[in-house]
Amino acid sequence: MNKKFVKDFIVVENERLNSFNSLLKLRPADGVMPSVSPGQFVQVYVEGSKNTFLRRPISINNVENGQLWLLVKEVGDGTHAIVNTPVKGILNIILPLGKGFSLNPGKILLIGGGVGIAPLLMLGKCLKEYNSEVTFLLGARTKEELIELEEFAKYGHVCLSTEDGSLGEEGFVTQHSVLKDDFDMIQCCGPLPMMKAVAKIAMARGLNCEVSLENMMACGLGACLCCVEDTKAGNVCVCQDGPVFNINDLKWQI
Ligand SMILES: Cc1cc2nc3c(=O)[nH]c(=O)nc-3n(C[C@H](O)[C@H](O)[C@H](O)COP(=O)(O)OP(=O)(O)OC[C@H]3O[C@@H](n4cnc5c(N)ncnc54)[C@H](O)[C@@H]3O)c2cc1C
Ligand code: FES
Repeated sequence: MNKKFVKDFIVVENERLNSFNSLLKLRPADGVMPSVSPGQFVQVYVEGSKNTFLRRPISINNVENGQLWLLVKEVGDGTHAIVNTPVKGILNIILPLGKGFSLNPGKILLIGGGVGIAPLLMLGKCLKEYNSEVTFLLGARTKEELIELEEFAKYGHVCLSTEDGSLGEEGFVTQHSVLKDDFDMIQCCGPLPMMKAVAKIAMARGLNCEVSLENMMACGLGACLCCVEDTKAGNVCVCQDGPVFNINDLKWQI
């Protein structure tokens, strides 16, 4: 288990990417960025109302030049407060949490939907450093929701899907033509129905496949049991034993 840290981070940049997603770049106040791996997440303390008593889990989008990147979709009070933290403002963060994606050689397809694309950027970067051949397949309802595309393009070939056909191929990621290509592994993060559909394709082809679950979390540390997933190994805490799981270890009815 890697050591966890509770640290203040200073907001260095806060860029609104579209109507509901922001990219925050944060610098540790003490100048020491803990070592993290792709697919791990952080717990962000949100000051303010009693609605935001619990920290909010957010994936590590990237670590670059000693800065932690968080891609945050505003859905409620907690994420509203996080994306509205001004430059020079402080966010208190526990990190690194959970077990991330595995790094494997070969042709790797990274499939992301919605804000689930967040952990795939750092994963693609690490896979490229590992000499794997990375293809990203990113999906959203419409082109406005496809973000950080220039960043993804640095680390692999980028394929896009939109439900309304406004960018890339029209339809769901599971209908994209790139899925006809041969891959050695699929790694995926996004809405649960999307991950189950991807897992079904991977199983039908006998492909190794990992998914990152986003079960509701409270402590993020394996103490409150609110994130439990029933797996073939019994009930496990997604915050500690995941969020990344091999689909062969899950009890999904697919
Ligand atoms: C491991 C993990 C990684 C995540 N990574 C990211 C990320 O990189 N970027 C990002 O924007 N969001 C991410 N999320 C989701 C994020 O934690 C929730 O959107 C956030 O906690 C909502 O807080 P809120 O106060 O804004 O909304 P709330 O008022 O608490 O809830 C608003 C809505 O969001 C839903 N929601 C709340 N918490 C979760 C949750 N954990 N999972 C799914 N739906 C939830 C609620 O059911 C409700 O419909 C991640 C979640 C997990 C578990
Ligand atoms: S969130 Fe508390 S045990 Fe996982």
